[in-house]
Amino acid sequence: MLAPMEGVTDPAFREVVLELHRPEELGGAFTEFVVVSRNFPVPEHVLRRRLGTTGPGTPVGLQLMGPNPETMAETARRVEALGVVPVLDINFGCPAKGALKSCAGSAALRDPRAMEEMVRRVAEAVSSIPVTAKIRAGFDDADHVEELAKAVEQGGAAMLTIHCRTRAEKYQEEVYWERIARAVGAVRIPVCGNGSIKTHADLERMRRETGCRYAMVGRGALADPWIFSGERVDRRRAFRFLWRYVEAMRENGPGQPRGLASRVKQLLRYWTAGDAVAGTRTTWLREADPDRFLARLHAEASAG
Ligand SMILES: Cc1cc2nc3c(=O)[nH]c(=O)nc-3n(C[C@H](O)[C@H](O)[C@H](O)COP(=O)(O)O)c2cc1C
Repeated sequence: MLAPMEGVTDPAFREVVLELHRPEELGGAFTEFVVVSRNFPVPEHVLRRRLGTTGPGTPVGLQLMGPNPETMAETARRVEALGVVPVLDINFGCPAKGALKSCAGSAALRDPRAMEEMVRRVAEAVSSIPVTAKIRAGFDDADHVEELAKAVEQGGAAMLTIHCRTRAEKYQEEVYWERIARAVGAVRIPVCGNGSIKTHADLERMRRETGCRYAMVGRGALADPWIFSGERVDRRRAFRFLWRYVEAMRENGPGQPRGLASRVKQLLRYWTAGDAVAGTRTTWLREADPDRFLARLHAEASAG
């Protein structure tokens, strides 16, 4: 699975990564979280914008994050009514201060009963699509990972994704996959493991070592979108991907040069595929003129 990543895994990126893979290599992706406020459900046009060109049959689940089961449930009904979303995910992992302040995202990790209730209310609001939940291994520590996993299961989730870092660990380098194994041992629903998968071999290793049924890749897929198949691509194919991403963004929206260039730059911060920017990353990132940036990218992608 391709992990949801705010500001990076937009509809265009998801589309281009999914295009590269067969379903058995990459089962699906999730949208970045859609914030559901305490007082108002999310309007339909906002949901549609998040989905972009995602149509029926596209394996892209929509992720919601909010503090209030009522507005979350009503938003879930609206998502279901769109008729194009195969799965609905609830974010219980976001460590950002804003999320914590509004009691959303990882804030729920302090209160498994409230988490269970949230899953239940959202799951009861929809009849034709499964509801899943993505958690971290804990808030300050991972002592209660089993309890958190069970809360998600008892609430009626069809799958649990567990990012094995705690909220306190944010995005630290060191990870403890055994926490994923503990979650697997605590529930009967399928578990999707997540955290620091950096190579294609890591995908299999995580499944073998933890027993999780699925594995989800975040930043590893920004570095090399072919991580799911394990294919090693050359520099030219790597640049073609980046240009195809620009084209897909234009298909999804108005696409001003500045916005397009900044999205590609966001990706280039992580990029390793084809060694395309090895030694030149800084010059790409420092290019201030978006037209020049895009012209250089186009030239690299079209080079014979
Ligand atoms: C820039 C960025 C944005 C993220 N946005 C989301 C998000 O919208 N929803 C979510 O559930 N997780 C989000 N995450 C967390 C990732 O989905 C993933 O759980 C995390 O990066 C750990 O996986 P990794 O070590 O493979 O990167 C984000 C992570 C990053 C780096």
